[in-house]
Amino acid sequence: MDKLEIEGGVRLSGEVSISGAKNAALPVMAASILGPGENLISNVPQLRDISTMGKLLAHLGMGYHQEKGKVILQSKNIKAIEAPYDYVKTMRASVLVLGPLVARTGEARVSLPGGCAIGARPINLHTMGLEKMGAKITLSRGYIRAKAKKLRGATIYFDIPTVTGTENLMMAATLAEGQTILENAACEPEVVDLANALISMGADIQGAGTSNIRINGVSKLKPLKYRIIPDRIETGTFITAAAITGGEIKIRNCSPTHNEALINKMRETGTEISAKKNTLVVRGPERPSSEDIKTMPYPGFPTDMQAQFMALMAVADGTSMITENIFENRFMHVAELRRMGADIRVEGPTATVKGTKTLKGAPVMATDLRASASLVIAGLAAQGTTVIDRVYHIDRGYQCIEEKLGGLGARIRRVR
Ligand code: EPU
Repeated sequence: MDKLEIEGGVRLSGEVSISGAKNAALPVMAASILGPGENLISNVPQLRDISTMGKLLAHLGMGYHQEKGKVILQSKNIKAIEAPYDYVKTMRASVLVLGPLVARTGEARVSLPGGCAIGARPINLHTMGLEKMGAKITLSRGYIRAKAKKLRGATIYFDIPTVTGTENLMMAATLAEGQTILENAACEPEVVDLANALISMGADIQGAGTSNIRINGVSKLKPLKYRIIPDRIETGTFITAAAITGGEIKIRNCSPTHNEALINKMRETGTEISAKKNTLVVRGPERPSSEDIKTMPYPGFPTDMQAQFMALMAVADGTSMITENIFENRFMHVAELRRMGADIRVEGPTATVKGTKTLKGAPVMATDLRASASLVIAGLAAQGTTVIDRVYHIDRGYQCIEEKLGGLGARIRRVR
């Protein structure tokens, strides 16, 4: 199993280019089920989750080819309607094929994802919505089966805004009969990107990016040709990496407007950030000052940046309170950061982080994607060597992390 070895203490400097957004590319790939023919998606990051989705779509009978940031999906024929457990257990986003499969073929069988490292993560809101649209939902032997000759438009209220739930139902509604209204929908930029991709296929969608999305069903969609937005979480991860090392970096090919909550908080910590259209220049402080955060649905502070921000607060001047409101178990990095000398106490959804001047390198273990990113960030600032085990987690969501950080001067290498 690969490990990452980091010698801390180098101030990052130079330029880095951001890849396409994993969490936008995955639903757009699933959307290609809806447009029979050759679908071309560009600015797709080269990641393990992307190839898992590609293999799942190939399992459904689609052609899948990926090269140099482009994915081609041939969806003329859909031959299978099942997302097996083997795919869903390695990547929960596999559930994104549920809505498009029912809409296109009238039926889908998707393995019910179990709990995961960050929380229970049920998909009851996805199935509730499909049921409202007239699908018959049954659960048998760990699989959800959804069946509907033709989905009907419906008004669907989410008690919790759910990102992939909104995406699944938005895709299902594009081919439904009549109008679907999604109330209290997720407003994340990835939802907007999916809506734009669907609109380019001929879908009639209004209001994406607000909590009220209206979709008028159409009789058919054409294949897509679409470019994915930059990854705001990769961008945020590099912002915190520059800040924790007191470095100065230029982040290219990003979308600063998608990172406003983080950028505002980072400025409060003393990090200087200037934003132009697709570029950010970040200059870290000598020592960051402590700031409290509470994770919230977009446009609030993203849960996917909580762990990385905590690593920064571990060396801040002062005490910060970090409250995780989205997932009930997203503090797995705390125990690992403590092994590096961080002073963190967790009570319920809140972690109290007492900043310490220096962290010390240690062997640590990645437990999920963003937790591993936080260990990399801590390792960049720590004295001595940090060895991160189970880096397959980080490979799910960060393209060439060691090359990109290495290009900024970090002493980081992969040990196979
Ligand atoms: N929820 C329910 N029922 C549902 C769906 C969600 O109770 O049917 C709850 C969840 O348990 C959670 C909250 O609603 O407490 C929000 O979860 P959401 O459904 O929005 O999360 P998701 O769609 O499963 C996506 C991202 C995650 C990101 C979250 C929150 C993708 C593929 N995944 O997950 O990304 O953390 O939104 O922004 O888009 C990551 O990239 O590391 C990652 C975990």
